[in-house]
Amino acid sequence: MDKLLIAGGARLSGEIAISGAKNAALPILCSALLTREPVTYTNVPRLNDIGTLLRLLEQMGVKVSREDDTVTLDASGVDNPVASYEMVKTMRASILVLGPLVARFGEARVSLPGGCAIGARPVDQHIKGLQAMGATVTVEHGYVHAKVPRLKGARIFTDMVTVTGTENLMMAACLADGETVIENAAREPEVVDLANCLVAMGAQISGAGGDVIRIRGVQALHGATHRVMPDRIETGTYLCAAAVTGGEVRLTGTSASYLDAVIDKLMDAGCEVIAERDAIRLKAPARLTAVSLRTSPYPAFPTDMQAQFMALNAVADGTAVIRETIFENRFMHAVELQRLGADIKIDGNTAFVKGVERLQGATVMATDLRASASLIIAGLVAEGETTVERIYHLDRGYERLEEKLGALGARVTRLR
Ligand code: UD1
Repeated sequence: MDKLLIAGGARLSGEIAISGAKNAALPILCSALLTREPVTYTNVPRLNDIGTLLRLLEQMGVKVSREDDTVTLDASGVDNPVASYEMVKTMRASILVLGPLVARFGEARVSLPGGCAIGARPVDQHIKGLQAMGATVTVEHGYVHAKVPRLKGARIFTDMVTVTGTENLMMAACLADGETVIENAAREPEVVDLANCLVAMGAQISGAGGDVIRIRGVQALHGATHRVMPDRIETGTYLCAAAVTGGEVRLTGTSASYLDAVIDKLMDAGCEVIAERDAIRLKAPARLTAVSLRTSPYPAFPTDMQAQFMALNAVADGTAVIRETIFENRFMHAVELQRLGADIKIDGNTAFVKGVERLQGATVMATDLRASASLIIAGLVAEGETTVERIYHLDRGYERLEEKLGALGARVTRLR
């Protein structure tokens, strides 16, 4: 299994380009299932999760052509509206095929994702929404089986803010008979990017980006071309990496407008952050100040940046209190950071991080995607060498990570 070897101590400086957003590309690629016409997507990141989704779509009969960051999908010949356990267990986001399949084919069988390292993560809200639209949904042999001649517009109120739940139901509603209103909708920029893509395909959607989304169903959607938005979590991760090393970087092909909560915290920590039109510049002080935070749905601080800020606080001046309110088991990086010398105490969903002067390199194990990113960030400032094991998690969500860090002057090597 691949590992990353990091020689700590280099100050990051220079410029790199940010890739397309994984969490926007996943639902957007699934939306191709809604039409018989080919759809072309650009700025699609080359990541293992995207490869997994494209294989899943191919199994269903979607024709996939891919060149660099451009992907064209043709779902005219779909003959198998099934997402198997083998696929879904490796990537929960596979559940995003459920809404489009039921909407276009009147039937779908999608494996239940089950648990994952960061918590139970049920899909009851996706199911509840489809039932409200008239589908008969049963769970048999570990599979969600949804059936309906044609979905009907409905008023749907989700019990909690769910990102993929909102996306699944928004896609399903595009071909439903009549108007669907999703209340308590997720406001994440990735939901807006998906809505923009669907509108380009002929969907009638208003309100995306707010907590009430209205979708007027149409008979059919058509082909389109869509550019995937920049990855705000990749952007935030590199900003944190530069910040802990006292560095100065410019990230291009991205926008500060998706990152208000994160940039606010980086400025509180003492960084200078300048938003340009399609780029962000960051200049860090010699030592950061600790920053407390609480994760919440967008536009508040994202749970996907919590682990990286724990690494940042591990070497900052002062004590930070970090509250995780989205997932119940998302502090697994804390014990690994402690192996590097971090002073962290966990009490339920709260972590108390007391900054230390120095971390020391050690061998640590990545447990999930963003936990892996926090260990890399810590390794960049630790004394000596840090080996991060199980980096297949990183390959799911960070495109050419060692290359990008290397371009900023980090000493990172992949060991195969
Ligand atoms: C998405 C992101 C993920 C991010 C998360 C929260 C993608 C592909 N993934 O995941 O990176 O960490 O949003 O910002 O976009 N819940 C239920 N029932 C449901 C749905 C959700 O109880 O039917 C709960 C979850 O267990 C969790 C919370 O709601 O506690 C939010 O989850 P959700 O927003 O659905 O996360 P994902 O969409 O899976």
